[in-house]
Amino acid sequence: MTTRRDLLVGASALVALASTLPANAADKPAATGAATPASGDKAATDKPAAPTGPFTLAPLPFADTDLVPYISQNTLSYHYGKHHTGYVTKLNELYVGNESLGTTTEAVAKATFGDKDKKPLYNNAAQAWNHAFLWNSMKKGGGGFPTSGKFADAMKAAFTDSDGWKKAFKEAATTQFGSGWAWLIAKDGKLSVMHTANADSPQWTGEGTPLLVLDVWEHAYYLDYQNKRPDYVAAFLDHLANFDFAAKNFG
Ligand SMILES: [Fe+2]
Repeated sequence: MTTRRDLLVGASALVALASTLPANAADKPAATGAATPASGDKAATDKPAAPTGPFTLAPLPFADTDLVPYISQNTLSYHYGKHHTGYVTKLNELYVGNESLGTTTEAVAKATFGDKDKKPLYNNAAQAWNHAFLWNSMKKGGGGFPTSGKFADAMKAAFTDSDGWKKAFKEAATTQFGSGWAWLIAKDGKLSVMHTANADSPQWTGEGTPLLVLDVWEHAYYLDYQNKRPDYVAAFLDHLANFDFAAKNFG
């Protein structure tokens, strides 16, 4: 059951997300216009149709070649054009008759978290939210370690330096057994790393406020790195992690 507190927390979290995601995230039913997924290769040309709503798919916040060579256009075409698209499409199907659970992916995920009878709806709502958050967690020319500002100070307090940060996040990402996510989170002003299984997110488990995420499902990296998840995580840490996004989420 969604409590009044849940609704208040959800509302504030949504405001925070909306303020950081560029008109993004298949996060809210929209009246018109699904975005066009990335294009450019065969994988994109035989992609499933873009979801037509009520939940729609926002465009990637970068060109589908911007993350090359660390994440290929082919991987993005499948990951965004098929996996993320598929979650949103399935969410729309399962949402019929469940409209009272909420009008955002976050609200639906929060309302169905832990409900065995609503597991498929939860999985697709949660994965739609997680992937929208993921795309904003990466950028061309990212990675490294933040150097100034309140967020950088918190990173230094938690991890000491770049090596400490990379070691901690890499451990979180590589020790998640099977499918899941590695997160940088904030709780009571302090930063830490964690991992979650399958579709779970600290955004609604109460473990902390997500600042940055990396998808460690095999579909996120297998075409480029095969079974070498540590190499994929290292590429994210060295070249892709979007600390501008993390700093905005930290506030
Ligand atoms: Fe994914």
